[in-house]
Amino acid sequence: MRRIGMLTSGGDCQSLNATMRGVAKALYKMYDDVEIVGFEDGYKGLMYADYRIMKPSEFSGILTRGGTILGTSRQPFKLMKTPDENGLDKVAAMKHTYYKLKLECLVVIGGNGSQKTANLLREEGLNIVSLPKTIDNDLWGSELTFGFHSAVDVATNAIDCIHTTAASHGRVFIVEIMGHKVGWLTLYAGIAGGADIILIPEIPYDIDVVVEAIKGRVRSGKNFTILAVAEGAISREDAALTKKELKEKKKNGPAYPSVAYALGAQIQEKTGQEIRVTVPGHMQRGGEPCPFDRVISTRLGAAAAQMIKNEEYGYMVALNDSQITKVPLEEIAGKLKTVDPNSDIIKEAKSVGISFGDE
Ligand code: F6P
Repeated sequence: MRRIGMLTSGGDCQSLNATMRGVAKALYKMYDDVEIVGFEDGYKGLMYADYRIMKPSEFSGILTRGGTILGTSRQPFKLMKTPDENGLDKVAAMKHTYYKLKLECLVVIGGNGSQKTANLLREEGLNIVSLPKTIDNDLWGSELTFGFHSAVDVATNAIDCIHTTAASHGRVFIVEIMGHKVGWLTLYAGIAGGADIILIPEIPYDIDVVVEAIKGRVRSGKNFTILAVAEGAISREDAALTKKELKEKKKNGPAYPSVAYALGAQIQEKTGQEIRVTVPGHMQRGGEPCPFDRVISTRLGAAAAQMIKNEEYGYMVALNDSQITKVPLEEIAGKLKTVDPNSDIIKEAKSVGISFGDE
């Protein structure tokens, strides 16, 4: 009997179940004697030996189901070496569970932080195969992550809905899209939804440029403007500050629930136009995976199973140029895949008149 552990870690997304199904179905087809051990709520389940032996039937009928049948939780990488409130050594506890269950390999399905912990466990000698999950699409080493395109669909739909009401009322609308550190989701949903202004963390904006873009639309007879703004969008002024200075500035300034509201107040003051803010929030991680994500989840899952069969451990399965590839965990841990401000997609978006608030 061979035993493979599996966990989903960090923020959820639409295609986690489809991915686990891909891994499991391929493993069950390869081996008659495989048992999948599912850990509850990500690394927490591995730490506290909270697991169940999965039945093959649990992986059926879940291709289209959002969320994760195993549950997930955030276990920050920076706290992995800090004992828990009862003094438990988390890394030692995870290793203990792994060896106690006689696992052949642990399949980790997660985003950036989870990949760092996966790499730490690899360094500790565990056999790891990981898969790239996140609506943020910010994992270094994979051109695409599953969850991203499903979230683009939801965020685009939010902008589409805002379009009609913005046009009816002649208002300026800000749609705040998820992504604190990177702007992939805002960029794609912004382009797909026909946003007039897209603000992402990688391109700090100048508020006067943003205001001028709105005024320019008014001058050309357009009575509404839609801004797609990433959670982590930042002004040039703030981007020039140190983390500490920025924290201080925010503490002493007016308290806004999020960047969209702060920006909205500034735009209202400078243009006199009526502003509305919409935050689709966690809706962007919910619902069914889109067909594209179902396909890549199935492919990545099947490839992960093949890697287990080949005993190729210590890698994240990735998707690059539409091909399945594998990237060593030590190469990806701690790196972010950000939007290049000089990339073609930004140039193309600018060439059709989208403002990024920078020029
Ligand atoms: O990493 C995925 C993500 O959805 C980000 O886009 C977002 O900023 C964050 O998670 C929200 O985290 P939480 O679900 O913990 O509020």
